[in-house]
Amino acid sequence: MPDIAYVNGTFLDLNDAVIPIDERGHQFGDGIYEVVRVYGGKPFLLHWHIERLLRSAAAIRLDGAYSHEKWVELVEQAVQQSGYAEATVYFQVTRGIAPRAHLFPNVEPSVTLIVRAHQAKKPTAPQKLLLLPDERWANVYIKTLNLLPNVLAKQSAYDAGACEALLVRDGQMLEASSANVWFVKNGELFTAPANRYILPGITRRYVFELAEKLGLTLHEQAVPLEKLHEVDEIFLTSTTAEVLAIDEVIEWPGNIPAKTGLSADIPANVTVTAENCETVWKTGEHVIVKQLQNEFYRSINLICAE
Ligand code: PDD
Repeated sequence: MPDIAYVNGTFLDLNDAVIPIDERGHQFGDGIYEVVRVYGGKPFLLHWHIERLLRSAAAIRLDGAYSHEKWVELVEQAVQQSGYAEATVYFQVTRGIAPRAHLFPNVEPSVTLIVRAHQAKKPTAPQKLLLLPDERWANVYIKTLNLLPNVLAKQSAYDAGACEALLVRDGQMLEASSANVWFVKNGELFTAPANRYILPGITRRYVFELAEKLGLTLHEQAVPLEKLHEVDEIFLTSTTAEVLAIDEVIEWPGNIPAKTGLSADIPANVTVTAENCETVWKTGEHVIVKQLQNEFYRSINLICAE
């Protein structure tokens, strides 16, 4: 069974799917998206994802996208058609197809969707985060297609032997490039508040529920970089990474902006490598993270068994 795509009303083999050159997502990143995991043939937390998609649409003034019900129907139909039990569904809406001009065109939005078989990746220890300044715009709560700063940050992290970037804005450790970040101190959880400077993750929201079930105290409060040394555990959450324990935080000593904030100077083109980075934090044990991971997989097994 090939991975499948849906392009403006038609299902087709992913290899046959194309979008026109005048598609605004392609030219401007003028659109929004969601990524949903499918466990046991069931799209996980689908309603929350669709709610967020519709909020993102409203935030970029994108009218005329599908209704909540239509999205549910479409995603479920796509998953069923794929026949996959373990999959990822990616869907996006853009401001349509029109000759390139910055102003909003008077055309229908363009909807595309992809269902891919899930590729299980066993993380190879140790999992590291590279401290970087958050260079994204001021509305990262919108899940837009404009991900260049995220892409650059993640690539720098990989170049340095880390799995993710730990993005610092105004001295606060807020988020990773494609996941939310959590800190544990004295058995209590800390994650940045869902304001304009983080994406309010669906997995983050689910972990709020798991934490409550486990009786863990949770603070929606950002942790300043200067308090990193006081942290006992760090983990990431996202649809694809699930609940991922972090072993180390590294920093590139030349990377002053993570500490001081961005200056107006044009940054030098430097490739960060593992050799020019140093460890600034290391975990002992993943005590709380393991509890959350166990609860996460237990709840997914229950959903699959329903
Ligand atoms: N990214 N923060 C950012 C910047 C993200 O891109 C993501 C998810 C998250 C976690 O959100 P959620 O729990 O809803 O997946 C936080 C997806 C997986 C992606 O872009 O592929």
